[in-house]
Amino acid sequence: MRSYLSHLECTCCGKTLSADEPHRTCPACGKVLYARYDLEAARRALDPAALAKRPPNMWRFFEVMPVRDPDKVVTLGEGATPMYRARRLQRALGARELYIKDEGLNPTGSFKARGLSAAVSRALELGLKRLTMPSAGNAAGALAAYCARAGLEAYVFMPKDAPEANRKECVICGAHLDLVDGFIGDAGRISRERAAREGLFDVSTLQEPYRAEGKKTMGMEIAMDLEWRLPGAIIYPTGGGTGIVGMWKAFAEMEALGWIGHERPKLIAVQAEGCAPIVRAFQRGDTFAEPWQDPHTAAAGIRVPSAIGDYLILEAIRKSGGTALTVSEEEIFQAVGEMARLEGIFPAPEGAATLAGYRKLLAAGTLAPEESAVLMNTGSGLKYLDLVGG
Ligand SMILES: Cc1ncc(COP(=O)(O)O)c(C=O)c1O
Repeated sequence: MRSYLSHLECTCCGKTLSADEPHRTCPACGKVLYARYDLEAARRALDPAALAKRPPNMWRFFEVMPVRDPDKVVTLGEGATPMYRARRLQRALGARELYIKDEGLNPTGSFKARGLSAAVSRALELGLKRLTMPSAGNAAGALAAYCARAGLEAYVFMPKDAPEANRKECVICGAHLDLVDGFIGDAGRISRERAAREGLFDVSTLQEPYRAEGKKTMGMEIAMDLEWRLPGAIIYPTGGGTGIVGMWKAFAEMEALGWIGHERPKLIAVQAEGCAPIVRAFQRGDTFAEPWQDPHTAAAGIRVPSAIGDYLILEAIRKSGGTALTVSEEEIFQAVGEMARLEGIFPAPEGAATLAGYRKLLAAGTLAPEESAVLMNTGSGLKYLDLVGG
């Protein structure tokens, strides 16, 4: 097995860079860098039928993952999460084909494990030793765990009201934790300052090229689970948007690899009423999203007032024929209980927001009941015991 990683490319100005030295954002324009592969060669080397026989984790897509030496892969078994047919919810909603992809079953209890497994593996391979990031919570826990496994040092900066589970998992995994009196943007500023002063490598979401590579495997798994058919819609709780842009990238790569055709699912971004910069920009027809003032929602993972990948998220939503919508706090927490009672899946509030959004899309006729849809439950509710009643 070998990776067909070829170079890095700026998603905005097209500048190309070597993939074999550390880079964060584009040195020319400051925008997001993507890892690129020799997909023609990978297509010849990899028969998708072989994927099912490989160990069930996201590294089964090794040829299109950004690590050259398999011994440098830092894994805790992330990915290959189940995608359940949600029959009882389907019936309750009058829908015909509804799935829940349960990312809460990842190591550290959220889909952040995918991005951080990829980023920490590549950091290890490139010889980086000390990584830093701001986080709403789950990414910090994942960084702490993967750095512990790799023997790297982790620095995390979280708003002081981050969920208790996230604070504790960082400390228990030996990360240096700083609680910030402010929002995720303030945590990001402090992380960048410390990085510049102390030579830490900042792995903020979409500010280095490899977290998106881990997240893209969600899109690959959805296609694989449906035997290389794609669903009508994928509903995703959008904060920094790495998942949505990662999946969009995965669909393009899978088409080039010959695994799927030209079809695409509608990518649908759900945000909270109290923090909805992407929804507002989508509705206004903007290319970039203006930062959201005074962001508030208990679903901390989607309390992201400004995303560096805003233009990529908006492009993916528009090109896929998707949409963006908000849900209220009440709708989110009702959906937490509904998913748990009807399907036995105790979702993170962010994951539950997708169910609240789906209900609204059906009611508005934006999605038809017969259109297949996947709800991305991005994390486990067990990490939010301080937020949900019992
Ligand atoms: C549980 C959960 N869902 C969704 C998100 C948002 O993810 P993304 O940055 O990919 O939009 C986060 C981010 O922290 C999260 O923790």
